[in-house]
Amino acid sequence: MIRILNVFCLFLIGAKVSICLRVVGISVPPLKQRGDSATLTCEYDLEGGKLYSVKWYRDNEEFYRYMPRLRPPQHAHQLDGVKVDLEKSTARRVHLRELTLKSRGLYRCEVSEEAPSFHSAQAENFMEIYYFPKESPRITGLEGPYNIKDMLDVNCSSARSFPAPELQWLINGQKITDRSSLIAYGAKPAPQGLLVSTLGLRTPVQSRMKIKCIATIDTHRRERTVVIEINCGTQHKLCNLSTLLLVQTFYSISTKYL
Ligand SMILES: *[C@@H]1O[C@H](CO)[C@@H](O)[C@H](O)[C@H]1NC(C)=O
Ligand SMILES: *[C@@H]1O[C@H](CO)[C@@H](O)[C@H](O)[C@H]1NC(C)=O
Repeated sequence: MIRILNVFCLFLIGAKVSICLRVVGISVPPLKQRGDSATLTCEYDLEGGKLYSVKWYRDNEEFYRYMPRLRPPQHAHQLDGVKVDLEKSTARRVHLRELTLKSRGLYRCEVSEEAPSFHSAQAENFMEIYYFPKESPRITGLEGPYNIKDMLDVNCSSARSFPAPELQWLINGQKITDRSSLIAYGAKPAPQGLLVSTLGLRTPVQSRMKIKCIATIDTHRRERTVVIEINCGTQHKLCNLSTLLLVQTFYSISTKYL
């Protein structure tokens, strides 16, 4: 979505001349991954006026300006999470390198005309930074021994990511929605501003069961499946729970923006 904040126009109707500075489009990638670079563009139409400056802001803090009168015309200010590549930046675009989680924010370009008018126009858009988990979620607490009548008590924890992934449990392909079987531990902070989500599962042990945990952020998803079988010796009342198979399934579906 493009938000044009203001358009300054002056129409001289009799002379059929319009002096109208317009920002016709801003392009800010809505979704980027940490470590990516991004090109932000600002398309404007001076309609005969002369460019005085193009300034870029993140959350109202200026980080780049282009002023054709100056030599050199470009100037970048240091902002946390905003590394401008001057060589790839011009009067109509700014190139950012090595995005971090701190790069997220509202990006605005502001275009001004030369004196005497000093008309200005601006547009803005939000950029969100994601850090998708690099590994599948972990399932812990599988150590037995369990009785067949026991409750299985396990946790699923996502790998570090941002924002916190949503977790869900499936048993034999069925999504668990029963609140009494789920223990929500929420998200815990991890280094570098990342988060780890944990969701517990408490459910009766079945002689053979396939439990799967899925971690999703947007359309990106990673999952882990564990197949559990109970070995019951005929002479034992108590059975052993053994993790027969540890199936790891990776699914990385990029979002349409990336
Ligand atoms: C699951 O994780 C929570 C929070 O970290 C912890 O308190 C609990 O003991 C864990 N349960 C199991 C079965 O590992
Ligand atoms: C569990 O398995 C181990 C190894 O197979 C066996 O020695 C032990 O007796 C079993 N325990 C029970 C309660 O079945």
